[in-house]
Amino acid sequence: MTCRRGAIIVLEGVDKAGKTTQCKKLVQTLQDNGVPAEMFRFPERTTKIGQLISSYLENKNNLEDHTVHLLFSANRWELVPLMKEKLEQGISLVVDRYAFSGVAFTSAKPGFSLDWCMNPDVGLPKPDLVMFLKVNPSEAARRGQYGTERYETSAFQNAVQQRFEKLMKDPTINWQVIDAARNIEDVHTDIMNHSVNAINKAANTPIGELWK
Ligand code: TMP
Repeated sequence: MTCRRGAIIVLEGVDKAGKTTQCKKLVQTLQDNGVPAEMFRFPERTTKIGQLISSYLENKNNLEDHTVHLLFSANRWELVPLMKEKLEQGISLVVDRYAFSGVAFTSAKPGFSLDWCMNPDVGLPKPDLVMFLKVNPSEAARRGQYGTERYETSAFQNAVQQRFEKLMKDPTINWQVIDAARNIEDVHTDIMNHSVNAINKAANTPIGELWK
């Protein structure tokens, strides 16, 4: 590798945590400071696989639970060549949800183990930093109604939160818990500081493999 590679920075959290807002602000501030950065999001709904996922989430079609889990994973794998290309050009990727959402959401359904859910994503480019935006259920409720897509109920979101707590015990991942109940600017400053550290650390190390 001739230039410093970019870092993979993932934002995770349950709905209403402010992930998308914070991803956009992070990309903007990095770029304003001369750090090349681009946003990715999963599911990436524009591909053929992404369109299948999107209509499933909008309750327009039904897919068997294992099948949809594998489609979410395939949707990440299909973007890997592009992600690697950008990273090698020195562009840092700010990613709105990744394999951790994949595992947390499917394993919140009956009959799915964490292990089974993790398997299809083993070997994906490993994030250099994963920030979990944490809001308690009462703050989430104050932020307004959930949407109308599949999974957008408080009972399911609580189950998802518990699965995230399990995933955060994994010491092979650079997890940082961010108190997202604060105002947007304070949360952003915290996220920016963690990101700059991760970008500097990642620059001269090879891209890792997730859960390997
Ligand atoms: P979005 O609202 O961020 O576009 O996410 C769409 C929904 O898909 C959200 O409820 C989380 C869920 N999801 C999964 O079930 N598996 C996955 O792998 C990902 C990335 C998201």
